[in-house]
Amino acid sequence: MKTFTTRSQIRQYLNAQGAAKVGFVPTMGALHNGHISLITQAKQANDVTVCSIFVNPTQFNDPKDLEKYPRPIEADKAKLELAGCDILFNPGVSDMYDDNEQWHLDIGPMEQLLEGEFRPGHYQGVTQVVFKLLDIVKPTNLYMGQKDYQQFMIVSRMVELLNIPVNMVMCPIERETDGLAMSSRNIHLTPADREHSLVLSKTLNWVKNNFDANNIEVLQQQAMEKMASINDVVPEYFRIVDGKTLLPANTNTQSIVALTAARVGKTRLIDNVLIK
Ligand code: PAF
Repeated sequence: MKTFTTRSQIRQYLNAQGAAKVGFVPTMGALHNGHISLITQAKQANDVTVCSIFVNPTQFNDPKDLEKYPRPIEADKAKLELAGCDILFNPGVSDMYDDNEQWHLDIGPMEQLLEGEFRPGHYQGVTQVVFKLLDIVKPTNLYMGQKDYQQFMIVSRMVELLNIPVNMVMCPIERETDGLAMSSRNIHLTPADREHSLVLSKTLNWVKNNFDANNIEVLQQQAMEKMASINDVVPEYFRIVDGKTLLPANTNTQSIVALTAARVGKTRLIDNVLIK
């Protein structure tokens, strides 16, 4: 695997290679099997697979969260080598941003919903960095996980609004055998938190199995209560929404997703399930 830390180096290399199809997996590192499944999928459909590892400061609204974000770069490199990734782009903050750089993209109401409500400004930071990364890597296919469902929809909207020539591919959520969605943040869970965290996937499945389009409000309420009943779990939201607009679902909605976020001990987790 080739590793590059500056935009000009990676661009030069990709230009010289002239690959017909480039697959790109943007990450913030602390790689787990969810990320590796994106690399595997990218490898199957492209001539060259690029992964980026960059802990993007502009998408963190809590400086403590940014500070404590795991950065096991050597272990990450070993995982990428093993997965057969061709290129790693691992820039520093000053390679990606000028001082006092400004960014604003109007993505419409989707930005303020769900995560947007609890992490104001988060998606501006995400679109800012993904725009830059796409401009550097110029991939044919962009691979992102369903785990961050709203992020996928927001990046898709940006791609559409700015006519970025890339095909978006959503990859399914990878879960531990007991149902917990894989996440770089899971390493912060204490053994007790780890046990309690199962309530997210259990509640999502319960809602999927008991879904009734006439009872969405009640189901959401019951789901919040189920989660809140577990020690040290503080649910932030549980919403059943239109899978395209992320606005509340109703009896006519064609594609439906349930999404949730909760604090488990000191760790904030998100998860979702496709209902229809
Ligand atoms: O999902 C992530 O890890 C990040 O939000 C992304 C897409 C790499 C942008 O920093």
